[in-house]
Amino acid sequence: MPTIEDFYSEEREIAPAEEFARQALVTDRSLYEAGEDYESFWEAQAKSLVSWREGWSRVLDWQLPFAKWFVGGKLNVSYNCLDRHVEAGLGDRVAFHWEGEPGDTRTITYADLLGDVCRFANGLKSLGVSKGDRVAIYMPMIPELPVAMLACARIGAAHSVVFGGFSSEALADRINDAKSEVVITADGGWRRGKPIDLKANVDIALESTPTVKHCVVAKRTNTPVSMVEGRDVLFEEVMSGQDGVCEPEWMDSEDLLFLLYTSGTTAKPKGIMHTTGGYLTQVAFTHKYVFDLHPKNDVYWCAADIGWVTGHSYIVYGPLANAATSVMYEGTPDFPDKDRWWSIVERYKVTKLYAAPTAIRTFMKWGEQFPKSHDLSSLKLLGSVGEPINPEAWMWYYEVIGGGRCPVVDTWWQTETGGIMISPLPGVTTLKPGSATFPLPGIGAEVVDDNGATVTKGGGYLTLTHPWPAMLRGIYGDSERYKQTYWSRFEGRYFAGDGAKVDDDGFLWLLGRIDDVMNVSGHRISTTEVESALVDFPSVAEAAVVGASDDTTGQAIVAFVTLKAGEPSSGDKGEEIRTHVAQKIGAIARPKTIIFTDELPKTRSGKIMRRLLADVANGRDLGDTTTLADPAVVEEIRNRAGSGSSDEG
Ligand code: WTA
Repeated sequence: MPTIEDFYSEEREIAPAEEFARQALVTDRSLYEAGEDYESFWEAQAKSLVSWREGWSRVLDWQLPFAKWFVGGKLNVSYNCLDRHVEAGLGDRVAFHWEGEPGDTRTITYADLLGDVCRFANGLKSLGVSKGDRVAIYMPMIPELPVAMLACARIGAAHSVVFGGFSSEALADRINDAKSEVVITADGGWRRGKPIDLKANVDIALESTPTVKHCVVAKRTNTPVSMVEGRDVLFEEVMSGQDGVCEPEWMDSEDLLFLLYTSGTTAKPKGIMHTTGGYLTQVAFTHKYVFDLHPKNDVYWCAADIGWVTGHSYIVYGPLANAATSVMYEGTPDFPDKDRWWSIVERYKVTKLYAAPTAIRTFMKWGEQFPKSHDLSSLKLLGSVGEPINPEAWMWYYEVIGGGRCPVVDTWWQTETGGIMISPLPGVTTLKPGSATFPLPGIGAEVVDDNGATVTKGGGYLTLTHPWPAMLRGIYGDSERYKQTYWSRFEGRYFAGDGAKVDDDGFLWLLGRIDDVMNVSGHRISTTEVESALVDFPSVAEAAVVGASDDTTGQAIVAFVTLKAGEPSSGDKGEEIRTHVAQKIGAIARPKTIIFTDELPKTRSGKIMRRLLADVANGRDLGDTTTLADPAVVEEIRNRAGSGSSDEG
C-alpha cells in the first residue's frame, strides 16, 4: 500500500524559451554539479555573495540536529544590504519604489535607506537597545518596517516581526516568549480604504507584557493614539537629531538575526530562530538565481507581507543583499479596484513578480479583464510560493499574466528553511505546470515512505537529507521541541510535514500537509491532487477538499468549490464536477459532496484552513479560529453545507 497515492499526471512540459535562456545567469548543469559537494558549494557562495569582516575557520559544524555554518566568521547583515552597495557607487540606485494603498508613493535609494537605518539604529541605542536584545515589530507595509529591521540587524539586536493582522493577544504572547523590551509599531495602516488601528492593539498587548520598556510609534494614518509618557515615543522623534553614521556591530556568523513565530495548527507558537551568515548566504543565492536577477535592469516585486518569512527573505534581505530594485506595496489587490496589481506592474515596469497561489486563484476568479486592461509586457519571470499551485492556476498565471513568455518558478520552502529549497532554475530547468521540479544546487531533498525508505516514484513524505545554510537553528527556548518536531520522524532527516511525490521523470510535486491527507477505503489521497482536478474544471476557480467520516469508506471526500465570477452553480454543475474529477484522476477520488461557496477560509497568509472545513464537514464544533483571516466565511460555509450536491442527492 503506497504511503500517499499518485493519481494526477501532467503531460505538459515547457522548456526554457530561447530568448530567456540567452540572457539567463544559469544555462547549464554546472551549479548542480558543484552542489554535489554541498559544503564547498555553500562556501563558494558565501565568499562570492556576502562580504565578511573576518573569515571562518570551518564551513559546517553539524551535530545533528544542531548546525553551525561558517564557524567563527564575522559580518553584519545591514552592512551587506546597504553600506557595501553605497561604497560601490550604487547609492543612487532605488532600493524600494514604495506605494501606499491610498496612492501616495516614496522612492527610496540605497543611500537614503542607509542614512535612515543609521539614524534609527542610533535612536534604538539611545532607548537602551543593545546587542543580543530582542525587539518586537508590529507594523504595516511602510518603509519604516525594513528600516526598523535593518537597524536591529545593524546593532546586533534580533527582531521578531509580528504580522500586523494578528490580534493583541497573539502579539502579547510573542513579546513575552521573546522577552522583548522594545516594540516598534505605527498608529495604523491602510487596508481596503480604511485605516486599521495598530497602536490600539499594542496598548492592549502591553497590559500583559512586563518586559516592555519602550514603544516606538510611526505615523501612517494619523489616527489619534494614546501615548504613555516615558514609555511611548514617535518613530520620527527617535530618529531626529541622530547621527547618519552608525558603525555596524560585527556579528558572529551564528548570532541570532531574527525570530519569526509560526503558529502551526495547534499549540503554542514556535519562535523559529534564524542566524546571520548562513541565512544571508542562502537568501542572496536563491534570490539571485531563482529569479535570474539582473540588478541593474530588473524591477522586482514580491507581493507578500514582510510579516511572513517570504517578506523577510525576499523583500528585505535577499533583494537588498543583491542590490536589487524592488516594489513594495502597502495594501490589498482590490483597492480601489481589482486591477491594482496590474496597474503597479505597468507603472513601475515590473520584470519579476513573486506571488502566492491564493492570489493567483483569486485573480482567476475575478476574471481576465483586469490584467488585460494593463500593459504587462515588462514581465520576464513569475514566481509562486506558499501552497501547491494547481496546474490550471499555473497555466493561467503563465498565459494571462506572463503572456506565454515568462517562466513560472514554483518555489517550495518554509519559515523553518529560511530560504527557497525546491525550485526550477529558470534558464535551464524544463517546467511542468504545478511541479516545484527539483532541489536547488546544494540542497538535499527526498521523498520517503512510512519506513523512511527512499521513494523513487510515487507519493510519500518530503524530507531534507542534509543541513543547509539558512536552516532554522532551533525553536526559541525549546530545543527538545525542535528535535521532536523536525528530526524525530525519520532518522537523520529533517521532516517538513508535507507530502510529495516523484513522477516518472524525477520531478517533485508537493501534495500539501500530511495532516490533511484523506483515507478513502484504505486509499491515502492527497488534498492537492483532488483540488487540482477540481480547478481543472473550466468554471472552477478554487477548491478545498477534506475527509468527512463515512460508515462505508472510512472517509469520504467533501469538496468546497468557488466558481469563477458570473458562473452559476445551478443545474447539474455539482454532478458534472464530480464526474470530471473521476475522469481526470479516478473514481476513488470522486468527491461524495460538493459545496459551492464564494470564499474559502484562509489564514492571514493565504493558506486554506482545511481543518476548519473538516469541522464543518464532520458536523463538529469549530476548533480554533484565531488565525482565520475572515471568521464570517466559515459560518457562511456552514449554512451552505446543508445544501450540497452529493451521492445522496
Ligand atoms: C507550503 C512559506 C507547495 C508547505 C515560504 C510548507 C508550499 C508551508 C510551497 C510553509 C510550494 C510553501 N508548493 N507547498 N511552492 N511553498 N508551501 O512557513 O506546506 O508560511 O510546509 O513558509 O507552505 O509555509 P510558511
